[in-house]
Amino acid sequence: MTQDSGFTALVLDEADGKVTPSIKTLGDDSLPEGDVVVSVAYSDLNYKDGMVVKGIGRLVRTYPHVPGIDFSGVVERSDSPRFKPGDEVILTGWRVGEVHWGGYATKARVKSDWLVPLPKGMSLKQAMAIGTAGFTAMLAVMALEEHGLKPDNKGEVLVSGAAGGVGSIAVALLANLGYRVAASTGRADTHDYLKGLGATTIVDRSELETPAKGPMGPERWSGAIDSVGGKSLGNVLAHLCYWGSCASIGNAGGIGFETTVIPFLLRGINLLGIDSATCPRERREIAWPRLARELPMDKLDGLTHVAKLTEVSSLADKILKGQIRGRTVIDTGA
Ligand SMILES: NC(=O)c1ccc[n+]([C@@H]2O[C@H](COP(=O)([O-])OP(=O)(O)OC[C@H]3O[C@@H](n4cnc5c(N)ncnc54)[C@H](OP(=O)(O)O)[C@@H]3O)[C@@H](O)[C@H]2O)c1
Repeated sequence: MTQDSGFTALVLDEADGKVTPSIKTLGDDSLPEGDVVVSVAYSDLNYKDGMVVKGIGRLVRTYPHVPGIDFSGVVERSDSPRFKPGDEVILTGWRVGEVHWGGYATKARVKSDWLVPLPKGMSLKQAMAIGTAGFTAMLAVMALEEHGLKPDNKGEVLVSGAAGGVGSIAVALLANLGYRVAASTGRADTHDYLKGLGATTIVDRSELETPAKGPMGPERWSGAIDSVGGKSLGNVLAHLCYWGSCASIGNAGGIGFETTVIPFLLRGINLLGIDSATCPRERREIAWPRLARELPMDKLDGLTHVAKLTEVSSLADKILKGQIRGRTVIDTGA
């Protein structure tokens, strides 16, 4: 892609409350404000992308809109001293793809503060196989470690929604770090896949949805990464070991949950919130190189599917129905 040559994008238009996607060619003058122009090589598909593309949850207020909450690519132009043309960069979050135009395009203009350099040992494609999902899994692991999680603690680490994007990468990462990982899934056909990523135990989703008998159950989990929320979260908290923590990262199963203060008071447990979108740059620059070193890239390649911009709309339907396994990279065709 040469400078000022225009670009291709998946554009969402809205009429009478209905959101319609189409592939369009746009001029560079339509790009939003920003001090860095990136030739976008890859984007990806996250649950939030599904919501944006299908016009769910009023995440987007202004149309026409270019979705795609993540991208990786090569700097084309820069007014920032942090980047120069040719630098390989990653963007996740910062409400790009919601408020600001995103990565389902061959070109993006963004604030340099939102970009991190591609770490050594990772390709642009692998960066998007990781994307917000894997970055969030890493932030969850970091938060759990900061609250005392170690591989030799009593109990397995639970990952819920394990066959999804965040869950799959969390399983592979934790297993590679030496943790015993219990993967909870609602899909029987993913058990071998999850064991291949390193899960030691498979927990059926229905087991977590069955309320604990009383405010606490037997100690079971040394820590947990929860993509599901809803009624299973209270159950997870009731089975955390003494001083264990649960990183709450998602709401695939609902936003409300019931608990009591008892496991907090009598077992010293912690519930840790993770917001990857607004994570400060300094923490991003720790998390991304850790992903390059600690996530086994052969496992990552095995859980990744590559699709084109023209497939995004149908894939959005699937991720909202919980039918996507692992991670989907979108090749922009740039
Ligand atoms: N906090 C953050 O910064 C952050 C960042 C990224 C994502 N998220 C959130 O994290 C969640 C997962 O994101 P993702 O990209 O991994 O999505 P995903 O690929 O769709 O994975 C979600 C998984 O949750 C499980 N699930 C789906 N519907 C369910 C239901 N009704 N009840 C129980 N489990 C259900 C499924 O796992 P099984 O098939 O294995 O059961 C599904 O694969 C989403 O809620 C997303 O919005 C938050």
